[in-house]
Amino acid sequence: MSVTVRVPAKVNVQLSVGAARPDGFHDLANVFLAVGLYDEVTVAPADTLRVTCEGPDAAHVPLDRTNLAARAAEALAARYGRSPAVHLHIAKDIPVAGGMAGGSADGAGALLACDALWGTGASRAELLDICAELGSDVPFSLVGGAALGTGRGERLTALDVGGTFRWVFAMAGRGLSTPAVFREFDRLGAGADIPEPVASAELIAALAKGDPDALAATVSNDLQAAALSLYPELADTLAAGLAAGALTALVSGSGPTTAFLVRDAASAETVARSLRASGTCRTVRTAAAPAPGATVLTA
Ligand code: C5P
Repeated sequence: MSVTVRVPAKVNVQLSVGAARPDGFHDLANVFLAVGLYDEVTVAPADTLRVTCEGPDAAHVPLDRTNLAARAAEALAARYGRSPAVHLHIAKDIPVAGGMAGGSADGAGALLACDALWGTGASRAELLDICAELGSDVPFSLVGGAALGTGRGERLTALDVGGTFRWVFAMAGRGLSTPAVFREFDRLGAGADIPEPVASAELIAALAKGDPDALAATVSNDLQAAALSLYPELADTLAAGLAAGALTALVSGSGPTTAFLVRDAASAETVARSLRASGTCRTVRTAAAPAPGATVLTA
């Protein structure tokens, strides 16, 4: 008996960051959009909790208890007073340390898979609570689609999306640590008056209309300057995608993956080809949004 769950990656179409809070986190106005690049998490009973991983980035995935999939299994088991003895296998297609919530996807996927395997009967609200304990982006990996995240990003309000948005993603040669990017954001903004983050009404309207030109005109990422400060070569990747005809280019979340919004599937192929030829990134992928949240495939 095993259960497999498919979980999408995300791009942040708005990431507005407030000042550092006393707990070290930052208040956000964070508009998540789930994109059609997926990890699959398979869970099966085992003698002890263990994690394995396959995929091009598998060597960079920690297989110990720091893996969010393992932590999700432990958290759900603890809540229901049972043993977390399962084998979690991650088929990884989302870039590691890329700013696309790959680790969060594995946490949400493992949680849903263990929940189905064990038949806990947990409510959606309970699962979302556990997700929020695991990490700020994990609740969104469970729900998918598009949502506004406030607080540290974990308090979600679903958003309407009125059409398909086409994206090209360029994966960078190395990863960036999310805490390091937030620290750099704090360093760059030291002494400045940092406003409260507020969701953009224009951006939310552009999503609801399904209008890529309107969305391109309103995307923003307050972590982009910090990511570029730590990884200046990303500017070359952004420039290459824009030169190839992308409607807009931005760093995805805390980076270093760069995201290019394009008008249609043909343009996605043109931009992807140019980025591959540019020599400014490791790999290039195309994906459509919105994508559904964590979904049980086989049980
Ligand atoms: O919540 P998560 O564990 O994914 O966050 C990873 C790190 O990112 C935090 O330890 C913190 O340094 C930073 N972070 C932040 N403000 C947020 C979300 C994350 O400073 N709203």
